Amino acid sequence: MEKRAEKRRRIVLVPLPLQGHITPMMQLGQALNLKGFSITVALGELNQVSSSSQHFPGFQFVTILETVPVSQHETLGLVEFLVKLNKTTEASFKNCIAQLLLQQGNDIACIIYDELMYFSEAAAKDLKVPSVMFCTGSATNQVCSCILSKLNVEKFLIDMEDPEMQDKVVENLHPLKYKNLPTSGMGPLEPFLDICREVCNKRTASGVIINTTNCLESLSLSWLQQELEIPVYPLGPLHIRASANLSLLEEDRTCIEWLNKKKPRSVIYISFGSIAHMETKELLEMACGLCDSNQPFLWVIRPGSIPGSESLPEEVSKMVFERGYIVKWAPQNKVLAHPAVGGFWSHCGWNSTLESIVEGVPMICRPFNGEQKLNALYIQSVWRIGIQLEGEMDRGSVERAVKMLIMDDEGACMRERALGLKEKLKASVGIGGSSYNALDELVNYLETECSTS
Ligand code: UDX
Repeated sequence: MEKRAEKRRRIVLVPLPLQGHITPMMQLGQALNLKGFSITVALGELNQVSSSSQHFPGFQFVTILETVPVSQHETLGLVEFLVKLNKTTEASFKNCIAQLLLQQGNDIACIIYDELMYFSEAAAKDLKVPSVMFCTGSATNQVCSCILSKLNVEKFLIDMEDPEMQDKVVENLHPLKYKNLPTSGMGPLEPFLDICREVCNKRTASGVIINTTNCLESLSLSWLQQELEIPVYPLGPLHIRASANLSLLEEDRTCIEWLNKKKPRSVIYISFGSIAHMETKELLEMACGLCDSNQPFLWVIRPGSIPGSESLPEEVSKMVFERGYIVKWAPQNKVLAHPAVGGFWSHCGWNSTLESIVEGVPMICRPFNGEQKLNALYIQSVWRIGIQLEGEMDRGSVERAVKMLIMDDEGACMRERALGLKEKLKASVGIGGSSYNALDELVNYLETECSTS
């Protein structure tokens, strides 16, 4: 008698333990858990997340020995940190998965790894476990990594001195120009391109999951589908489906009470994510511009985000006292969903961008590095739901940008477009929507192709 295919129901997730990466990975885990899969999360010994098992009681957590502490990304820079992390973790990850296979009686359907944890693929291949890559950033960022991975550094540097080449639009990807390829803030070009080559080398991965949706990035998604020649699953925004939140910092919920006392759409919310740093001088200009705008504001100033200052400069605390409220870390999704919030001044990290669009909140964009600059370009020029605050930070432009977003017709039009996109995004994760279907296709792949026979 023919042996029936046996369903393997366990998925191993390998997140990069930085806030902007671990959040969407855990949301993906939750979405797959709701589809009936058991979830195991592999985290490095030095990168444990203290509240993880409390927030995800049904998940199993396993430890990869001897990894590099994530704090090293600050001292080494992101690129060098990633190279070191990937080099030193492969062997211990393989041991960890081998043990897990023994314990689970070979019941691992697939390893889903953050694209920056590319060591996972080698272990998966050796142990004959299928693997799928997960991109936590935008599809356009992934396209750019693929383009960059094929470039010759010397030629690219010469080309980028020619204004005509800088302004050349990347074929089929309007309005993306060569000068927008996200290289700034990534240190020397060659090592960064090495990382792009690793990320774009799909090796034996059998699919790519992206936390985006067709109505935001259809051109980039078609480009990837053609280029990668393996299924691409654009099943985002994941945070609409998954309620669980794995905040690495403690959220200050008092800001919600503060927001409760404000008029609808009057408050500007300011947050620059989990990594960006600011100079004291910029902080002061921001504080002056915000106060001069006469609009109330809720401002996240993360501990350690102002190098050289242990605590907030006194001038800033004094200045914001009247109109503003400062917290160290906010429950961002709750803040963006609050009726009092009229605009989001953001560094345009991909998660923040999706979270803002999902709540129909228009944005002021102040990107720090290349990938965020790419998101800002799309916010301003493609979706037209925000404006960029460029150049040196000065109080006058801060004041004008805030007033424009909250009080002017231009800001109202951006809000209207943001609300239109919000509906499209919600429809894409609803029954029959493109993201809904992409998740179903992924589940179908995991249930059929990844089963033992
Ligand atoms: C970085 C990159 O900028 C991002 O584009 C990439 O995809 C992942 O790595 P980060 O700079 O932290 O991430 O920004 P972002 O992607 O916006 O992620 C920040 C997360 O922290 C968001 O989910 C946001 O909701 C959360 N957050 C931020 C809070 O919960 N509270 C806060 O006060 C601020």
